Amino acid sequence: MRIGLFILLLLVNSINADESFISNDEYAKMLYKNPRGIGCDKCHGEYGEGKEISSYISGKNKISLIGPRINNLSMRQFKKALKKGKRLMPEYFLTDEEKAFLYYYLITQNKKGLKFANSDKQ
Ligand code: HEC
Repeated sequence: MRIGLFILLLLVNSINADESFISNDEYAKMLYKNPRGIGCDKCHGEYGEGKEISSYISGKNKISLIGPRINNLSMRQFKKALKKGKRLMPEYFLTDEEKAFLYYYLITQNKKGLKFANSDKQ
């Protein structure tokens, strides 16, 4: 269990005071960028602000594939979205702790990097 590991690390750290270890913030960010699979940032942007994944021209229209903004969702919406059955998004096998850390990372990035005018869809 992740939380168990943190408690262990805290204990280890208190014994060995000048040994630095990864903070919760660093862990959450690391998980977002490398969640045992393609990083969330590749499709949702560095801060979860939303991002154009790719685009192509069809006739006269530009078709964009968008990874939606995900740093403004409720915990419930977030967890629900991570269940399978998406159109484009890959399926992940994340533990509840990992989801909580990802959610924590995203809500703390909420104001950063907003580029799409229509990405604030709440
Ligand atoms: C390959 C691109 C891609 C990756 C990688 C990806 N997503 Fe997504 N995600 C999408 C797309 C596209 C959607 C919109 C639904 C769809 O079309 O699948 C989406 C939807 C979501 C939603 C729902 C948004 C809403 O408004 O309901 C959440 C939450 C989410 N992703 C979180 C994550 C997290 C967390 C990760 C990393 C563990 C991740 N995504 C990785 C492409 C991606």
